[in-house]
Amino acid sequence: MFTTLLTENTDQIFTITINRPDKLNALNKMVMQELDQAFHHALADPLIRSIIITGAGAKAFVAGADISEFANLSVEEGMAIARYGQELFSAIENSPKPVVAAVNGFALGGGCELAMACHFRVASENARFGQPEVNLGLIPGYGGTQRLTQLIGKGRALELLMTCDMIDAGTALQYGLVNYVTTSDELLHKCHSLLQVINSKAPLAIARCIKAANAVFNEKLDGYEIEIESFGECFGTSDMKEGTAAFKEKRKPVFQGK
Ligand code: COA
Repeated sequence: MFTTLLTENTDQIFTITINRPDKLNALNKMVMQELDQAFHHALADPLIRSIIITGAGAKAFVAGADISEFANLSVEEGMAIARYGQELFSAIENSPKPVVAAVNGFALGGGCELAMACHFRVASENARFGQPEVNLGLIPGYGGTQRLTQLIGKGRALELLMTCDMIDAGTALQYGLVNYVTTSDELLHKCHSLLQVINSKAPLAIARCIKAANAVFNEKLDGYEIEIESFGECFGTSDMKEGTAAFKEKRKPVFQGK
């Protein structure tokens, strides 16, 4: 189906694997376009409840945007690439279905930015995170300056952005950049078990948690107002009636996403 991706649907969890291991899964134009397609397919398919993004091979999640495509770009072309990347990564961040990054090795540049656009991250012990763009005379263009600062704070973010240092999985855990560190073998299993728990909850409520939490970082939105509206909207769902009825009847709820 795709040239640069592998996809799999198990237990309503859709896994997108970026599959250019010989180039450490670098994000070239085709990967970005196919990621866009695969992600929007997952959003549209009612049988898919949540998404995992990972990289092929034992070495890298994604080692960045494909540097070989950067030669001779004009200022306008550079801006167009960043705008497209930001639109795609914002769509991932604002996905109503949970998206988890399974970071299985290097997550550098655009790879770190992709992982940060996901709702949370699980890393294998060999994961390495960094924004080394300054080494190339560049800066991050797919939201890295913003999301790294949101996730680990300005001081640590600016140090990483300016030194180009990589941090290991343990440091990423300590910084709050990842939620868990596992062995390489356990990584996808851990992501699956987390998503199975989330998939058993009310999907419309999950989508509203994402929307309200994202509003914290959007100056144009009032997150508290979004929380009020979203809370109210839940009362109009069958899932809320089912959840409260199941609680009273001391049974497990069966949510329909309605
Ligand atoms: N873009 C394009 N190609 C990349 C790439 C990227 N971001 N990252 C790695 N590759 C390619 C290498 O060019 C190499 O290809 P080749 O075998 O045809 O020469 C292949 O992937 C393997 O990488 P290599 O550098 O040989 O592996 P390594 O183990 O020695 O080093 C890294 C691993 C991640 C430290 C190193 O590849 C690197 O620094 N990559 C660039 C990271 C970066 O700057 N990302 C931000 C881009 S904006």
